[in-house]
Amino acid sequence: MPLDESTVPASDISPSELIAADTGSEWWRTAVIYQVYPRSFADSDGDGMGDLPGITSRLSALADLGVDAVWLSPFYTSPQRDAGYDVADYCDVDPRFGTLADFDALRAKATELGLRLVVDLVPNHSSSDHRWFQEALAAGPGSTERARYLFRDGTGADGELPPNNWQSVFGGEAWTRITEADGTPGQWYLHLFDSSQPDFDWQNPWVREQFLDILRFWLDRGVDGFRVDVAHGMIKKPGLPDYTPPADSGSMGGGLEEGATPPYWAQDGVHEIYRSWRALLDTYAGDRILVAEAWVEPLSKLANWVRPDEMHQAFNFTYLESGWSAPSIKRVIDASLEVFSSVGAPSTWVLSNHDVVRHASRLGLTADNPQGAGIGPRSPGLPDRAVGLARARAASAVMLALPGSAYLYQGEELGLPEAIDLPDEARQDPTWFRTNGERYGRDGCRVPIPWEAASPAYGFNTSGESWLPQPDDWAPYARDSQTGKPASTLELYRLALALRAEFDLGSGSVEWLDGYGADVVAFRNGVVTVIANTGTVPVELPIGDELLATVELDGPALPGDATVWVRSA
Ligand code: BGC
Repeated sequence: MPLDESTVPASDISPSELIAADTGSEWWRTAVIYQVYPRSFADSDGDGMGDLPGITSRLSALADLGVDAVWLSPFYTSPQRDAGYDVADYCDVDPRFGTLADFDALRAKATELGLRLVVDLVPNHSSSDHRWFQEALAAGPGSTERARYLFRDGTGADGELPPNNWQSVFGGEAWTRITEADGTPGQWYLHLFDSSQPDFDWQNPWVREQFLDILRFWLDRGVDGFRVDVAHGMIKKPGLPDYTPPADSGSMGGGLEEGATPPYWAQDGVHEIYRSWRALLDTYAGDRILVAEAWVEPLSKLANWVRPDEMHQAFNFTYLESGWSAPSIKRVIDASLEVFSSVGAPSTWVLSNHDVVRHASRLGLTADNPQGAGIGPRSPGLPDRAVGLARARAASAVMLALPGSAYLYQGEELGLPEAIDLPDEARQDPTWFRTNGERYGRDGCRVPIPWEAASPAYGFNTSGESWLPQPDDWAPYARDSQTGKPASTLELYRLALALRAEFDLGSGSVEWLDGYGADVVAFRNGVVTVIANTGTVPVELPIGDELLATVELDGPALPGDATVWVRSA
């Protein structure tokens, strides 16, 4: 959703909370962090699903690209009902992905290549297969085991109605009724996501203890940090009151204005949890980080997640949602730099991940489908591929010139589009099933990525298997098709990352340049001048040496849907 000015009020952080703000030079303040989605990165055993040895074997490509760190989406023991975000054992590797020894080998390879390694932590819910939940089912109402999760009696004459009206993010009710051990219809449990993902009760100290142990387990294994899943959802408002979200709030949104905060998102109680985690991380050497996946608006509220004694970074989804519109992009950049720096945190920037339509397609959607919340063959306003790619390249070139930390999602450096034409029967996202096909969900951005144009499964493995079918026309996107070709998206990213490092753009600043018109994003970061044209009328370029251009320039004018970096004279 493009940001409206009213959603970016001044920071609501009190001055007393700012005093300890650390504006140091830790690696994460300027890092480019690359998201690996293990199911779809590289598959060493040919079963069609990616794995840790596959990642290890391909890791040098990421060092070669020039990123600083890798974030791994979940590879833990899991029935995979939500692609691993349903964890059945937080301290082991799912056999589909390998073993703990494979993880250690990956860790060692990353260190050898100079890459930091961040792993995913999924604390809002476990899998219903988790031993803790199975014990809770067996133990019965009122037991300490049930108190790990949010079990409640139903309403209605016989408890046949759910405890409240909350809806799951994936569609349908957020409650499921169980059958008690004696065969009678029983209590209900809360699941903000799929019914296979019961929410923990984070008011229970036992839950807090378990997660401190889980953090220790991975810290001791040498991880550099954690991306914290649903970091706005762990505490629910006492009494679990009914709540009906406004029609336009988006499923993961944290409330657009004060007073509208849903009783399951962005509750104040989450902050003491993060303070305790930060205190633990601070006892470890080596700048370990916590990164919040928190869909919270406005940005001034999100800044509370990265106060000096909480997390280090939060994903900037307001930026992701700013669209290809200069006024909107500029407003979000200004707001981000202001609110994050007010708490001593770097801003982050992100355009794609495993939950949203790839930006090479999203930025080409027409007005019929501006959000792109899961697209498929029957969606309205489908993107023009060339327009989408041009805008994606231009948008990435803006993002990579900004100060702070940037997140890349595997395949965006190849300019990969969303796989729109996946057959219905291939889809696996619970969103698709829970909405009876009304929402396509996220499979289209999760298709295994292409490495080699002429190999089976484009080099994802050697067997040709793929857990989601790869489109027939992806050969030109394969890494080996693009390597060494200056006009390719891969070489554009490589150049942008090299220049970003050379000119230290990550620790620079944004100085807006006037006079380019309403459709243009124009700024200086140090000696680099960035001009991005989101409109259709060509703009005159400033004098200086061209460092990077997302299109081949034909004269001194920048066409629409293009970005250029110029070394200022
Ligand atoms: C993850 C999703 C996941 C959900 C539930 C998220 O925000 O990024 O992929 O489905 O949390 O764990």
